[in-house]
Amino acid sequence: MSKLSIKKINSMKKNKIGIACLTAYDASFSKLIDECGVNIILVGDSLGQVIQGSKNTHLVSMEDMLYHTKLVSKGRKNAYLIADMPINSYKKTKQALINARRFMNECGAEMVKIETNMNNFNILSYLNDKDIPVCAHIGIRPQEIRSSAEYKKQGKTTKSKNCILNEAILAEQAGAKLLIVECIEENLAKEISLKLSIPVIGIASGKYCDGQILVSYDLFGISFNGIPKFVDKKYFKTQNIKERLKKFVQNTQKLPKS
Ligand code: KIV
Repeated sequence: MSKLSIKKINSMKKNKIGIACLTAYDASFSKLIDECGVNIILVGDSLGQVIQGSKNTHLVSMEDMLYHTKLVSKGRKNAYLIADMPINSYKKTKQALINARRFMNECGAEMVKIETNMNNFNILSYLNDKDIPVCAHIGIRPQEIRSSAEYKKQGKTTKSKNCILNEAILAEQAGAKLLIVECIEENLAKEISLKLSIPVIGIASGKYCDGQILVSYDLFGISFNGIPKFVDKKYFKTQNIKERLKKFVQNTQKLPKS
């Protein structure tokens, strides 16, 4: 496999090849994940849970994210690298730009991810205008979650469905180059994937997205707070993590017929 670019990732969507994405937090796992053919590595602020042992992502700092992004960048060769901007690091346009540039210039990230809602599309379009490629994240937004009871499928009512659809369209219009949809109804995720021209990557959002992302520690079965129910148990048939990674890539790249 050769080095992935956003152009190649877009062509995977056009050619109906599913985009396989996983999180990583250090050089060794990053190398392994890359060698097994994963297309995109996200240094997720999920490190709050799986590395730091917290209940959520709210205590993750810029310094934590910069440190882990640098490590992951060392390990990967071909995968495209996205860094998650932690809570409170992109509240204002100038602050968002300074922090996003640190990920790109100091740590080797090629894109940053922000959780987008109706109040911060201006941040997304500002970063885009300054040539920072941005991945938007909608559906469940972990930085806004206050209790685990809020972790419910989104888009079940017409109002919620229309709101998420609208956010997806606005994210693309504001310049997002990728969209992550977390924990939304399968048919809504399918509709968004068909409607948008940018790749739509799903987590707990059914099989019809342009790609799938998982927290790698969930796939390895080692997450500190337990393994979420949506993680397909077929991966646990083998104890060999290389085989699990390869299976994940294989399954994700073969998109279901719609
Ligand atoms: O932080 C993270 O790992 C994420 C993924 C779950 C999409 O945002």
